[in-house]
Amino acid sequence: MPTSPANTSSIDFEFETFGDEDLEEMVKAANVFCQAAEPAGNFKGHWLTLLGRSGIGKTHLATRIHDRMKRKRDGERIITPTRWSSFIVRKIKWRTFVDEIMGGNWRITAWLIEPHFLYVDEIGDEAVGTREIVFSKFGNVCDARLGKWTLFTGNQSLENIASIDARVASRMLRQGNVVVDAGDRVQDYALRQLNSK
Ligand SMILES: Nc1ncnc2c1ncn2[C@@H]1O[C@H](COP(=O)(O)OP(=O)(O)OP(=O)(O)O)[C@@H](O)[C@H]1O
Ligand SMILES: [Mg+2]
Repeated sequence: MPTSPANTSSIDFEFETFGDEDLEEMVKAANVFCQAAEPAGNFKGHWLTLLGRSGIGKTHLATRIHDRMKRKRDGERIITPTRWSSFIVRKIKWRTFVDEIMGGNWRITAWLIEPHFLYVDEIGDEAVGTREIVFSKFGNVCDARLGKWTLFTGNQSLENIASIDARVASRMLRQGNVVVDAGDRVQDYALRQLNSK
């Protein structure tokens, strides 16, 4: 059966949506991302940015996507042993990136540009007071990553990210890149569990 957009909710991310439109949209976007990225040999792609308040499951969902990308990497290793290292998968926390740049490790930008799939968790976390050089270097990473599979999570709105760094926010929306911003509408998962008892 052909895979149509209507058929994209088939991956089980062990993610509860409670029927929330915003969470449903996140899962749908995660499906589209994985189903486009997973076929063997598909190295070129787009970005997915998951935004929304703390505790709604952005990292949970992104970690499932990251796991699937690692399986793709390992699968391609088996299918095409001669190209065993070709689908490179990496993950970094925003805070680690900030620390590396502030510590003078500018080579980290090349390490983030190289992978075919990159996941950056908690982008812009505690960005107030973050030095300009960090955003300048991150902007370079973003420029070089246009057209590559890239996943961001963060608990700031796109407007906030734009006010911190317009270059990064603008690229999140370019070339078919997708932003799902749940805003303040979705409640923290743990609170919801508590309230439903
Ligand atoms: N929709 C969900 N379905 C299942 N588990 C969830 C869901 N949302 C959150 N959780 C669980 O709640 C905890 C917090 O979720 P998570 O860390 O993914 O939140 P977050 O949106 O990334 O928050 P932050 O912005 O603070 O990083 C995790 O243990 C996660 O597995
Ligand atoms: Mg998180």
